[in-house]
Amino acid sequence: MSVRKNKEILDSIMKENYMRLSKKAVVAAMLKQEVARQRVFYVFLKQKGYKNITPENMDKNQSDGIIGNTIIECKLNDSEGGGAKKAYWELYETIPTRLKQKGDKIPYYRIYVELETFLTEVYDCHCKLVEKFDWYEQSDKFKRFFEDTKETYEYDLADENVDLVEVIQNIYKVFDTTEKIDAYDFLRKGAIGWFKPFDISKHNINKLILNNDRMNEKYVQKMQGAFFTPSKYVRISTQYVNNDIKQSRQDGYDDYVVVDRCAGVGNLESQFDEEIYPHMILGTINEAEALTANIRFNGLAEVEVVDSLSKDGVLWFQRAISEYKRKNKVKK
Ligand SMILES: C[S@@+](CC[C@H](N)C(=O)[O-])C[C@H]1O[C@@H](n2cnc3c(N)ncnc32)[C@H](O)[C@@H]1O
Repeated sequence: MSVRKNKEILDSIMKENYMRLSKKAVVAAMLKQEVARQRVFYVFLKQKGYKNITPENMDKNQSDGIIGNTIIECKLNDSEGGGAKKAYWELYETIPTRLKQKGDKIPYYRIYVELETFLTEVYDCHCKLVEKFDWYEQSDKFKRFFEDTKETYEYDLADENVDLVEVIQNIYKVFDTTEKIDAYDFLRKGAIGWFKPFDISKHNINKLILNNDRMNEKYVQKMQGAFFTPSKYVRISTQYVNNDIKQSRQDGYDDYVVVDRCAGVGNLESQFDEEIYPHMILGTINEAEALTANIRFNGLAEVEVVDSLSKDGVLWFQRAISEYKRKNKVKK
């Protein structure tokens, strides 16, 4: 069918008065159309008093329509284009994913409409059926769902099992962010349709951040060389350090420090006994890594955000070692 012919049909749908048509006549009107059958449905709703509906825009965004707090998916009947099963997939997977990628709010309700049978099923975002009605006879029922203000969140950060790596990767994708510390800021502020603002003081975000410490995100890998030592090598290096500490005692030294100038999140020190933590002086150029290292070592290690390759960096380590000696009255 030509584009011109399409336009004529779509325009004629807009002009039709569906209020005077019977159920049968409405179905006949839809079946006559080869394009945008759901436009009849939306013009019908508009004429029923839903002034905010713009039928000519409802098939944009590759969804059958987002109205207020609802996503709507229409099928002619259960045999058309995968029927209800395909519609549910669209409502819960395809459309929310698309909205999420754009950073848009995800509606709370999902509505499946069968144009020909008038079946209307309203589900909440947890796939629970909330209401079932006939869209021709009971079109006033849509109002409550369109106007409802319940919010849905893709991720609940208060849930201990939330995959923070995935959340952060999505933050990078959607919000044009490359630094982990900025991503943490998004966690605090919350993001519409994604997660509620997260009050760090009221929740145990430490565990979340620690789970996140192996997130070799591409940017930090590429720019700062953040690759993690596999744990079997960490075991070996830990053994070397333990041997040295023992040896230094035998040699008559009364204390020791462990210095790691590019410690990242402290993975290399992760198998140390806790009694070593206060002896550690660690540096990393990445603020988010320093935060994780501090959490990992319970605030007992000296952790600094520092460019270890710079002159200032070298001086900082010298001063930190002197300060340690002074504080602990180290003689030898
Ligand atoms: C190879 S990773 C450290 C790996 C760590 N030892 C482990 O096993 O997990 C190197 C780390 O050094 C940090 N880094 C890169 N350039 C730095 C610099 N100039 N000063 C301090 N830290 C730096 C990176 O952020 C990165 O986390």
